[in-house]
Amino acid sequence: MKIAIVVSSTRPTRKGRHVGEWVLENASSRDASFALVDLAEINLPLLSEPKPAVFGPPYEQETTRAWSEAVAGYDGFIFVVPEYNHSIPAPLKNALDHLYVEWQDKAAAFVSYGVDNGVRAVEHLRGILSELGIAHVGPSVGLSLSDFADGVVSANDRKAAALDTMVDKLVAWCGALATLRVSSDGNQDRPRLGSDHLDRAKAAAESLIAELQEGIDQGNAEVYNRHFALDVMWGNPNGGTLLGYEELHAIHGQLLSDNVAGPSRYEIVAARKVAADVVVAHVRRAALDASGVALDPADAGAFSEMALYVLVRRSGQWWLAAGQNTPIAPM
Ligand SMILES: Cc1cc2nc3c(=O)[nH]c(=O)nc-3n(C[C@H](O)[C@H](O)[C@H](O)COP(=O)(O)O)c2cc1C
Repeated sequence: MKIAIVVSSTRPTRKGRHVGEWVLENASSRDASFALVDLAEINLPLLSEPKPAVFGPPYEQETTRAWSEAVAGYDGFIFVVPEYNHSIPAPLKNALDHLYVEWQDKAAAFVSYGVDNGVRAVEHLRGILSELGIAHVGPSVGLSLSDFADGVVSANDRKAAALDTMVDKLVAWCGALATLRVSSDGNQDRPRLGSDHLDRAKAAAESLIAELQEGIDQGNAEVYNRHFALDVMWGNPNGGTLLGYEELHAIHGQLLSDNVAGPSRYEIVAARKVAADVVVAHVRRAALDASGVALDPADAGAFSEMALYVLVRRSGQWWLAAGQNTPIAPM
């Protein structure tokens, strides 16, 4: 995820740039990259395109083309916004009005400042962003003028914690909306949905296979199924589909107590994070001989499987949404 921290005031003695730098320092250590986008440097003229932005590119002005390219490259925005006469600064309204499609189906959050924490500017900005198709997260950060010392942010830990909460939400929404942008554009090239072996994807899959391993070692379906969702969808190796935890748990209880699979070792073959909070993993269960060595799938009695699992994270916990098991057999 690429997130722009948009500094929206342009006065020579503005606080805005310092606020943007404070946001950058406190938001950088996440599953997203952050960059300052300073409207004073972008230096757009007052809107002078002949056609309203809703009609989309091509644009006549070189400045609009450069701004379009910059905004199109981001998945989300943190607007750093002071309150000017109970609303947002004119350079920000001008920058927003320049474009349309580039803002659509993206996410935003706000760090505001002013005598009353800049809250009225944020409320105005929410209305404008709704018209531009930008989803704005609920949590926001408001700095009062007493949160500054010598023009620089001296906000307390509470404000930094609020920023943390807000950025977590923003990153999650950016991921969710990115999937919407891909699927809504019929002319787009075939998308790459995730990266192979991302650390976070592997960590999610590892937490699942640790439970499968412990469950099979102990013959205990409670452990094996611990993080299977209530509506889990499960394809067994014989072409059957089991729907829901209750049905699956009863069958796993029987299979595990009968030790149908035998001694086994689970391992991750591939894992991908394909959307915010969604991981797919290909997992091997290798049947072992009595000394713990993996059996050759061609051996009579060797019952090894490949499984494709779909994991979904809810409230910080990964859950199994679906699984499909296939026996490994010589072609
Ligand atoms: C034109 C102008 C209008 C302002 N109006 C308000 C206002 O309505 N409410 C408020 O709380 N602060 C208001 N302020 C104070 C600003 O919020 C404060 O000066 C802030 O530092 C401005 O951001 P900047 O330094 O990045 O330009 C106003 C400041 C300016 C320059």
